[in-house]
Amino acid sequence: MIYFDSAATTFQKPKEVSHAVYHTMNHYGANAGRGGHRLSVRAGELIYETREELCKLFDLQEPEQLVFCQNTTQALNVGIKGILREGDHVVISSMEHNSVLRPIEAASGNGKITYSIVRANEKGELSLVALAREIRPNTRLILITHASNVCGNLYDIEAVARLAHDHGILCMIDAAQSAGVVPIRAEKFDLVAFPGHKGLLGPQGTGGLYVRKGLPMATIMEGGTGSQSESYHQPTEFPDRLESGTQNVAAIAGLGEGVRFLLREGLDAVRQKEAELTELFTNEVLNIPNVCLYGTDKREEKLGVVALNIEGMDCVELASILDEEYGICVRAGLHCAVLAHETLGTKDIGCVRFSFGYFNTKKEIERACYALSNIASKRSSY
Ligand code: ALA
Repeated sequence: MIYFDSAATTFQKPKEVSHAVYHTMNHYGANAGRGGHRLSVRAGELIYETREELCKLFDLQEPEQLVFCQNTTQALNVGIKGILREGDHVVISSMEHNSVLRPIEAASGNGKITYSIVRANEKGELSLVALAREIRPNTRLILITHASNVCGNLYDIEAVARLAHDHGILCMIDAAQSAGVVPIRAEKFDLVAFPGHKGLLGPQGTGGLYVRKGLPMATIMEGGTGSQSESYHQPTEFPDRLESGTQNVAAIAGLGEGVRFLLREGLDAVRQKEAELTELFTNEVLNIPNVCLYGTDKREEKLGVVALNIEGMDCVELASILDEEYGICVRAGLHCAVLAHETLGTKDIGCVRFSFGYFNTKKEIERACYALSNIASKRSSY
């Protein structure tokens, strides 16, 4: 089996990750911060240690500003709904995932906010000038993906943050595809939403939100935090303000091991490996007749995500053949990103997405190219 769906979730993880989940469940599976006994204390320490590892990765000084969430979607919702106020205007890009589009659309649907979509070109490339044109006097937030989950285009988020901050606007980043692959200096932004189960190599059900210190955040959920239990009100202190309820201690301990692995290997090595695989795949695929690639041609502005179609062939059928006849797992369709597909011109047909991870090999890439070449040459007989 060849797994090329790391943009959805990474399947191959360092062995330390599952060991940590198992060990934590068996030895420290108590409720963190909800008791003074040794197991509860150790569970709390495990969570704090993962926060500290994430701080090293994201170049942060304040672990308490990192809030654990179940996934990027939850982190985006906590951030978007926590920060926006009545009458605000938001700018998003046309390469956003539905987890950005839908909460923003919902807030605009109930009349709370308005928003503009800055259009990328047909290769998914975004212009800062076009972004600046969408800014209005009441723009409060620019919310942009670091990298497209459909075609892998990488965006200059620090330039976007500078533009936002020069205009007194907040900047929030969706780092669903980039966290653990590309360095992110989180303090350059006001909010950063990230998954634990993709590039960070942790278990599913993990993710987080960085919130700049001092940013006033409304809550979308209140409850027990293990702190200030005498009060009727949700604490204002972080991370408790945005972390109600029992934490997934075992999964967070696993996430800590994923991050430790990345810190040992170095993000440069991760990025280089993925770039080499992507380069090899793209060069080979470009030689196959009737294959159409989407996204930017600028290879240095891309992650290890390649979107394609074989002309005249349904993308879901192509993915099924890859799976059933060649044992290759990819994702076909609209990838929960209708805006991005509209931009790339694939809204009506979808596409097949190959997304590579650190544990993939050149041999696997060659096998996939062989499969695509075979399928393309026989496509009329399918
Ligand atoms: N957002 C994930 C993907 O792109 C699930 O597949």
